Amino acid sequence: MLFRQPEPLLIARVRPILEKTCLKCHSPASGLKIPDLSTYEGIRVVAKVDTGESLHTLMKLSHIHLFGIGLVALGIGLIFRLAVVGGWLKATLMVLSFVAIFVDILAWFLTKWDPVYSYTVVTAGTLLGLAWAGQILISLYQLWLLKAPERENSSN
Ligand code: HEC
Repeated sequence: MLFRQPEPLLIARVRPILEKTCLKCHSPASGLKIPDLSTYEGIRVVAKVDTGESLHTLMKLSHIHLFGIGLVALGIGLIFRLAVVGGWLKATLMVLSFVAIFVDILAWFLTKWDPVYSYTVVTAGTLLGLAWAGQILISLYQLWLLKAPERENSSN
């Protein structure tokens, strides 16, 4: 990451850009009460990587989310379990939602260690959304739109 690089390198590469586009406002000379980007220390303050909530908050949130979302996944799964779809698709969507919740929450903690895992949080959240959307839409379609005789034909 750029701001983990030693000071001389940062100055050589970034200083010209800052001078051209930022220091007009972001320096003590401007008189504005905004971060001073004319010094290395000033830049370090605003360039600090955000690693998310504190561990204490994460612990609390993970309990709420694991139980809350887990129960919702169970409810959706209990309905979807009765849907008439291939066994592998049913198993994949149901297992995927639980795995995605677990990976999502695990990645919150990994993000504290290395911010690159924030992508895992987004990916797992997307997969959870897709798994739920699949289960809900298929269930609703079969409940509301699929006619009973058709269902008997397709299940045979
Ligand atoms: C025209 C004046 C102006 C220029 C040019 C300008 N800024 Fe800003 N910048 C501001 C103001 C005013 C704020 C405060 C906005 C606020 O607090 O809502 C701000 C806020 C910021 C913040 C947020 C600081 C914080 O407290 O989190 C950062 C970071 C920042 N600017 C970086 C830059 C960078 C990098 C450049 C050049 C690419 C730049 N700014 C160019 C006026 C400027």
